[in-house]
Amino acid sequence: MKNGLDDVIATETTLSDVDGLGGILIIRGRSLDELAGVVTYEELLALLLSDAFDEKLDANSLRMQIGLARQEVFRTLPEADAPLLKLPVTDAVRALTAQFADGDELATALRLIAAPAVFTPAVIRLKKGQAPVAPDTSLDHAADILHMLHGRTITPQEAAALDTYLVTVSDHGMNASTFAARVVASTHAGLVSSVLAALGALKGPLHGGAPGPVLDMLDAVGAPDNAETWLEKALDDGERLMGFGHRIYRVRDPRADALMQALRRLAGTGNHGAGRFKLAESVEAAALRILARRKPDRPLKTNVEFYTALLLETLGFPRDSFTSVFAMGRVGGWIAHAREQTQHGRLIRPQSRYVGPRPIKAA
Ligand code: CMC
Repeated sequence: MKNGLDDVIATETTLSDVDGLGGILIIRGRSLDELAGVVTYEELLALLLSDAFDEKLDANSLRMQIGLARQEVFRTLPEADAPLLKLPVTDAVRALTAQFADGDELATALRLIAAPAVFTPAVIRLKKGQAPVAPDTSLDHAADILHMLHGRTITPQEAAALDTYLVTVSDHGMNASTFAARVVASTHAGLVSSVLAALGALKGPLHGGAPGPVLDMLDAVGAPDNAETWLEKALDDGERLMGFGHRIYRVRDPRADALMQALRRLAGTGNHGAGRFKLAESVEAAALRILARRKPDRPLKTNVEFYTALLLETLGFPRDSFTSVFAMGRVGGWIAHAREQTQHGRLIRPQSRYVGPRPIKAA
């Protein structure tokens, strides 16, 4: 038995591959270097979903159809006093998505792609007492998300940074949320239930819930000179350093590099948090030194969440929304995997080894 299914191959897929020793992520035959900052999220979705639906999907038609889906989802927003708006942003987004019903497969998929993109900025605004901003279908998906968040014209650099983020996190092998989506899809429960299961799995800090705590860590460290002492104490207290370590990668997560570059490009266009970036670089360098010394046999490197935290903070997302921003990108992967599972897979139903007491046999 493998605790945590370490190294267990659960399925075959044509969608993505994670090479943990080489630090390479391949999505539909292309390495992340060829995708992040190069293709738009709509182009990436066309690649990911090309075998999933009977209809031929290209980036232009997807761009238009997702824009219309954003409008449709916007019309389902609750009133400003709806009780679910008291939930943290990510939980409110999941609760709103839970009201969807399965229907035509492609239309359902488009609504699910639009859901976190529309609900997240709207919930953030409603919680602050601001009116939600209606989608603008003339904009690309990433630019429109920021427009709905800030209610102003978005710079090309801001839109490009979010677009790079969505592409970077769109798919990543058999991660916990994708596996959850595939398990539910394997029962033929439908796309909505598959995506809801994935959203639940994504939330945990060992998976997609880490970037908020990364910012908490930076706040607690406060200044570059405190990094070493603070990190040593956290580890002495048995804490894990958020944004470091990975089940598969034994080298630096390639997504961390893609996001660091996106952040640098964004920071170069204005005064976006230069001090914050310096602090983060000091914390990262100190964490890597300390982890290498404390865990010489287990390489613990920077993962995607460390630079996710800085990028999303710079783009103006509050930290309790980071997981649902992650979902805006990963939902494409979940849908592609759920479709692949129902088209080519069987019911996922493993065994457990019972180690509890047995009935006492009658003498
Ligand atoms: N800080 C300190 N120690 C760590 C860390 C960390 N971030 N990550 C792993 N370790 C230690 C762990 O304590 C264990 O030590 P020991 O063998 O002495 O008990 C050893 O390294 C192996 O840990 P593990 O829990 O068996 O490793 P895993 O493969 O199950 O964990 C992980 C992977 C991502 C859950 C873990 O590295 C972690 O908790 N990281 C912090 C949270 C985080 O950044 N999560 C985002 C992950 S990336 C997003 C995604 O792709 O989902």
